Amino acid sequence: MFSSSPFPNECSDLGKGENSLKYKLSLLFKKIAVRLFPTSQFLFPSMKGGLRPAQLYVIMKKIYETSSEKFSIVEVGIARGLSSVFIAEALNSSGKIFSYFAVDTFSGFDKNSIFREQNVHGRMFNWDNYDYLDYLSYCKSVKSKKLPLRLVRHTEYDKLLSAQTFDMVILDVDTEIATLEYLRFFYPRLNKGGLILVDDACPDNKYDGALRAYLKFCDERAITPLFLRPKSALIYIDAE
Ligand SMILES: C[S@@+](CC[C@H](N)C(=O)[O-])C[C@H]1O[C@@H](n2cnc3c(N)ncnc32)[C@H](O)[C@@H]1O
Repeated sequence: MFSSSPFPNECSDLGKGENSLKYKLSLLFKKIAVRLFPTSQFLFPSMKGGLRPAQLYVIMKKIYETSSEKFSIVEVGIARGLSSVFIAEALNSSGKIFSYFAVDTFSGFDKNSIFREQNVHGRMFNWDNYDYLDYLSYCKSVKSKKLPLRLVRHTEYDKLLSAQTFDMVILDVDTEIATLEYLRFFYPRLNKGGLILVDDACPDNKYDGALRAYLKFCDERAITPLFLRPKSALIYIDAE
């Protein structure tokens, strides 16, 4: 009767470990933390990263409504992989066979892009925010957690992915130069019915590099801009 449940492994684990000392201690710790710090992130976290509801809706719809059993996705700009882990889990649950390429510099924003954002557009943000990232640590983490991600360095994506096509492309690299470069590369590689989601590309966003790139690209290709408020912009390829 429940054979269609997408979560068989999780269900079979329910209730395990409730009598262990570790579990009881963690519960005690949480009770104390809630009493001591009622306004902290621990009790009611605020949304700082990851995907927003409208983005989730569009991504899930595409995964579940794509009729082919194989799904190919590339995500560019993964940072700590908050969205990657979620999307990979959704793909697992859908029962589809999928390939998931995750492209990043694994060392933060590239110097060329920052230079332009700062010196041409005057965008003085904390561009060193992601400099702590490190490729080898990522490889170890992905391997140890058995995540189905294929990590690709930004210096190699054009060689490694030139023969691939994609059902979904997610871009979250914030700067104009990088966003435009990836749009130009991936758009011709979209499958019929495919989707590109560009994060931080809505008007009024603090970071407007992705928006500039998106509008430039739409202009180049005579595409009508389509915004998914409050954060993203979309490009769809017709199914026929
Ligand atoms: C805003 S973060 C991505 C957040 C992520 N999508 C999430 O949900 O947590 C931007 C990421 O883009 C990466 N990045 C910056 N420039 C890049 C480039 N030219 N190519 C690939 N990745 C880049 C940074 O290293 C960083 O991980």
